[in-house]
Order: sequence, then structure tokens, then C-alpha cells
Amino acid sequence: MKIGILTSGGDCPGLNAVIRGIVLKGTTSYDLEFVGIRDGWRGVVEADFFPLTRHEVKGLAKVGGTILGTSRTNPYEGRGGADNIKATLAEHGIDGIVAIGGEGTLAAADRLSKDGVPVFGVPKTIDNDLGATDYSFGFDTAVNIATEAMDRLRTTGDSHQRCMVAEVMGRHVGWIALHAGMAAGAHVICIPEVPLSIEEITAQVTSAFERGRAPLVVVSEGFKLKGQEEAYSDKGLDAFNRPRLGGISEVLAPEIERITGIETRATVLGHIQRGGSPSGFDRVLATRLGLHAADAVVQQAWGEMVALRGTDIVRVPFADALGELHTVPQSRYEEAAALFG
Ligand code: F6P
Repeated sequence: MKIGILTSGGDCPGLNAVIRGIVLKGTTSYDLEFVGIRDGWRGVVEADFFPLTRHEVKGLAKVGGTILGTSRTNPYEGRGGADNIKATLAEHGIDGIVAIGGEGTLAAADRLSKDGVPVFGVPKTIDNDLGATDYSFGFDTAVNIATEAMDRLRTTGDSHQRCMVAEVMGRHVGWIALHAGMAAGAHVICIPEVPLSIEEITAQVTSAFERGRAPLVVVSEGFKLKGQEEAYSDKGLDAFNRPRLGGISEVLAPEIERITGIETRATVLGHIQRGGSPSGFDRVLATRLGLHAADAVVQQAWGEMVALRGTDIVRVPFADALGELHTVPQSRYEEAAALFG
């Protein structure tokens, strides 16, 4: 049996560990053959394949990025479409695809699978916003990077008695902000699920400042102030026609300074949260997902994906991951809010 592996959408620490897990288990336990597919669905549509053996995956668990490359190509556009893809796979003797990706990738995988293309999925998102999986690999690494960055912001903030506003990723959900903010002792955390007014934010900033602290505000890129219709975006659209987010901290910082009179600085962490080596937790999670994906393709569990439930790896239909976003529950926000101010 020959299997193609692709990574698609935004990259994420742990992608290489998944690839290694699939190839090691697939070759040693099942005698599977693998090809790497370059740059996500683009490589499927354009038949851009290369042999993927144990040799290519050695030492990969700790390596950031993806050796396969990635893109946000839609497999139904251009020369794509299910019939063309089926013909390409048949021509190259490929019996199925493992697609490692987030919401957009899994939605495409779901559609292709319904159109008869054998696809199995591995969920990926640093934002931790996919339904059906309690945590996704990449999230823990992003939280560690953001926490370290905020620890650093706090020492410079303390030295100058400034308010520091740290902006983290999180298009629809505030998991990175919530976890990194709690870990770093933020005085207020602003997430997409809980709109706040500028006065609610500045009240916490002032309270922290009056206690002699240099206030730390953590904000998700997708946060909206009360009354704000759309998340802040001034960078146009991405390949999926979604607004490119980033910059809300630079809107909030001058407002905080104007209202409180406290000198305020904004820092956008951006793609640094997606780069570099995965954490130990993410290496293990990604490797386990890869090992289970190898079992799944042998059993031809097409149309499904692996997911983490508690501490177990389970299999669920694509639809389960796509139905609802994995948002921060109100109770988790309230728990963290006890530490604000
Ligand atoms: O979906 C994950 C994510 O990291 C979002 O938080 C962010 O909005 C987006 O990717 C940015 O991706 P890129 O700049 O690579 O298009």
C-alpha cells in the first residue's frame, strides 16, 4: 500500500513529528510505502511527489516547520477537483492520502473524501480552535513561546513602570491568550469569546498600576471591543479570503495610555509563535497522532481523523471537527478573571 502525506495551511511546530510517526510505524509495522506531497494540496493537484522513507524522517521530532512545505491551495481550484485527483493518484499508484492541517484543510479533505478520494486527517492548529480534539499539537509550544515573551515584557515594563500590551495569535478563540496570560500573570486578558469595553480594560490596568505593578494586558488578535463588529485587520485578505489579522494591540495601547495616563507599549508576537522546535508535550502528542494515523490508513478509515480525548487518541469523522469551534468556555475565562487587576 502506498500513502501520500501532505501538510497544508499555516505551519505549526510538531508537523514533522507527525510525519515521522506515520512513516516509522507505517514502514516498520505494516510495510507501507510513503510519498511526500509538496506544499499541501498544490502537490496533489500538480503531482509533486517524492519518496519518503525512514531516512528522510530521521531526527525530525524536534524540528520545527514542515519538510513537506505547505500552502493554502484549494484542491478544487485550477486543475484540481476530485476526478483529476483520483486520476493522478491512480497514475502514481497512491492508495490514500494523510492530510495534516487545520479547519480549511480538513474541510477540503471532507469534501474530497465524500467525492471518493481516500483521505485520512490529522488535525493541526496552534490556536487550539478545532472541535473534536481537546488539544492540538503546536498549541503548547505557542503558549510556551508567548509566556517567555511576556516574562520578558514584564521585566522591561517593571523597569519603566509602563503598561505592556502583548498580542498573541487566536483568530476565533482565545486559548493562547488565556493560557499564556495566566502563566505570565497578566492583569487582564482579552479574547475573542468575551468582548470588553476599553473602560473595563483600563479599570484593571489602573488597579494593577495603583498596587505598584507594571500592568500586563494580553490580547488575542481576534479580540473585539464591545460594539466592534469585526476583528481588527488592516492587512487585506489571505488566500482563503479571510481578513489577515494582527494589530489590535496597537489600537488598544494608545487608548489605554490616553485614558489612564500610564505610558503604554504594544508588542505583536506574530509568527514567532509558530516557529522553531516543538515543546516536549507537542512532540509526544504529534508523534502519537502520527502512529495512530498509520494504523488508521491500514484499516482504510478514510473520511476520519485522529483526535485527542483526555489522554487517549481516538478517531472521529471529519464532520465532528468542522461542526463547531473549540472556544474558551465562559467558566474558564471567569476562573482566570479572578486574577485580573
Ligand atoms: O490559524 C492559525 C493562525 O496562526 C491564526 O492565528 C492567524 O490568524 C493565521 O494563522 C495567520 O496565518 P498566516 O499569516 O500564515 O496566513
